[in-house]
Amino acid sequence: MKILVIHGPNLNMLGKREKAVYGTVTLSDIDLKLNELAKDFGVTLEIKQSNAESVLIEEIQNAPTKEIDGILINPAAFGHTSIAIRDALLSVSLPFIEVHLSNIYAREEFRHKTYLSDIAIGVITGFGADSYFLGLRALVNTLAQTRK
Ligand code: DQA
Repeated sequence: MKILVIHGPNLNMLGKREKAVYGTVTLSDIDLKLNELAKDFGVTLEIKQSNAESVLIEEIQNAPTKEIDGILINPAAFGHTSIAIRDALLSVSLPFIEVHLSNIYAREEFRHKTYLSDIAIGVITGFGADSYFLGLRALVNTLAQTRK
């Protein structure tokens, strides 16, 4: 089983950006733990971070050719703005889980809506880095069930 992990814009700044909101964990800490978990679950990860919407769209579009089974995505701010990322996910019809480190519903109103939530398998928001780890577990479980 192969899973594409997508980190959206500004997540490369984790550890430096808004520590009161996101804590001190860095993206490489998260990726390291994700890879460890993936090993335990017996799945392979492909991890991509970009600040450019077009790069993320192309990554999603290319997922089927790389035999990706599902996507774990923190769209970051693009979740609140990007119909194009929504359309890319719909175009490949791969199951995906949306995650956010912070609780987007406890923040500014413009963060309460994302263009991905209603087409995601589920959304995990507010558990810091654990949102990713819970998300990976949930995605692997869901994919395993659909394969049975
Ligand atoms: C975020 C929440 C978004 O609102 C914000 O734009 C981010 C990070 C999170 O992980 O909490 O960049 O996706």
